Amino acid sequence: MTKQVKSKQRVADHGEVFTAEREVKSMCDLVKTETERIDSRFLEPACGDGNFLAEILSRKLAVVKKKYKKFPMDYEKYSVLAVSSLYGVDILQDNCEACRERLYRMWDKEYKAVCKKEVSEDCRRSVRFILSRNIVCGNALSLMRVDENQQDTEEPIVFSEWAFVTGYQLQRSDYTFARLMQGDDEARDLFGKKKRKKREEQMTLFDDAEPAEKPSDEGEFLKKYVTHYRRVWKNEQ
Ligand SMILES: C[S@@+](CC[C@H](N)C(=O)[O-])C[C@H]1O[C@@H](n2cnc3c(N)ncnc32)[C@H](O)[C@@H]1O
Repeated sequence: MTKQVKSKQRVADHGEVFTAEREVKSMCDLVKTETERIDSRFLEPACGDGNFLAEILSRKLAVVKKKYKKFPMDYEKYSVLAVSSLYGVDILQDNCEACRERLYRMWDKEYKAVCKKEVSEDCRRSVRFILSRNIVCGNALSLMRVDENQQDTEEPIVFSEWAFVTGYQLQRSDYTFARLMQGDDEARDLFGKKKRKKREEQMTLFDDAEPAEKPSDEGEFLKKYVTHYRRVWKNEQ
């Protein structure tokens, strides 16, 4: 069994106790259908090294394999979509790095097994890039980035929403949500009333896999990019 505690200090400082595999699986089973939907989005807000994200990725990749293993190009595209649907935030940099590496290795192992000689270095680079954006070192309570001492910086966490628009074109839309957490009057004026009304009428940004026609008013929209999924890293930042 994987160790649930790395050190007493980390437990005391950050409440770092990893969830055992049996509990992870049981909890994922509570939303089984969603974990098996390739594009359903999940955020693990204190992700550690990604116990929940790894289980969900493994379920999603099993579905992609079942559907597309005979068609390497389709397998590649939908496995990228599966990775792009997973988000994590952790306050400790080493956990974020371990989480990204773990998800990347899981994806790459399956990718090699299915696509064999057709594997693409550009695609691999895209998956690494997507993970570098989706697994963020920050404070999940304030949604701000943190420094090396786990203190909030002035920089909000930027989340990238990924969605295929046409064929192989992958759209990335960047948003921040930090102001929603600040609870100041300005934030309430901007989002509060309108947000509640919207929730009754339609699903939120992170529920809806369709590309947003216009940016969601739940967060602050920053920028949109549309690129072939093998080249998303060209918009590096
Ligand atoms: C109880 S562990 C859970 C890890 C993982 N989700 C699991 O179930 O195995 C809590 C994690 O939250 C992180 N953490 C603590 N405070 C946090 C905060 N304010 N924002 C983001 N992550 C935080 C810790 O570094 C630790 O990795």
